[in-house]
Amino acid sequence: MSSILPFDDVEFKVVTAEDSERLMQFLHVHYYREEPLTIGCPPPEPDAEDEAFLLSNVPHGTCLMALCGERIVGAAVAGPKMPDEAEHQFEEAARLTGTKWGRILGFLAIVERDANVFQRFNVPKALHLHALGVDATLRGRRIGERIVSALGSRGRELGYPVLTTDCTSVYSARLMERLNFQLLNTLPYTSYVDAAGVQLIKPPAPHEQVKTYVLRL
Ligand code: ACO
Repeated sequence: MSSILPFDDVEFKVVTAEDSERLMQFLHVHYYREEPLTIGCPPPEPDAEDEAFLLSNVPHGTCLMALCGERIVGAAVAGPKMPDEAEHQFEEAARLTGTKWGRILGFLAIVERDANVFQRFNVPKALHLHALGVDATLRGRRIGERIVSALGSRGRELGYPVLTTDCTSVYSARLMERLNFQLLNTLPYTSYVDAAGVQLIKPPAPHEQVKTYVLRL
């Protein structure tokens, strides 16, 4: 992919280090404020470790911004994932015990382990979409769908055999189904509880579960 691809009136650009700050500003307004895991446990703001993790994907050339002129209208943060991903996430969650990002990672580790994409698809690596956000004033124009399609092309170009994602939102899950992603696993939020049986992450309706999807590239 060249650095900018035309797509109707929206262009897709591979995010560079110079774009990181404005990408994060966009994600704060149009992703974190609604993303079900983020709003499902206090405080409302993401942890700095969460933001740092998302931005750590930028050097891989696997994060895209959808631009309308200079304005960011959508973004996808994705990066490589290896077969030891679940193990790595469990370790990180243990290291970050007592923090919001640690709690979220603990859930994502279970999601990763249960989806088991590496064994089921016999692939050595995957491109994983961690975060997808569309400008809240521009929803329903299939911008998210177009970013995910562009990400699939980018992943194919970089030699990834599959694109995976954990849809924490009913809206992103519907979007993946329209793009013919295959459902690998579903995990209800009610299943993630502490030793006393108290639910650890409580997203608002209509979000009830995480659905993990895969697309062969
Ligand atoms: N709230 C209410 N309705 C919505 C929302 C929303 N958050 N998102 C989409 N819709 C509606 C649209 O209006 C549209 O309705 P229509 O068919 O009647 O026109 C329909 O759902 C389909 O919309 P799309 O065009 O497919 O979705 P869009 O590209 O606008 O945005 C996205 C989808 C990216 C998930 C968006 O909802 C968003 O940015 N949410 C906030 C962050 C988030 O939760 N991201 C997903 C987390 S999972 C992950 O990141 C892998």
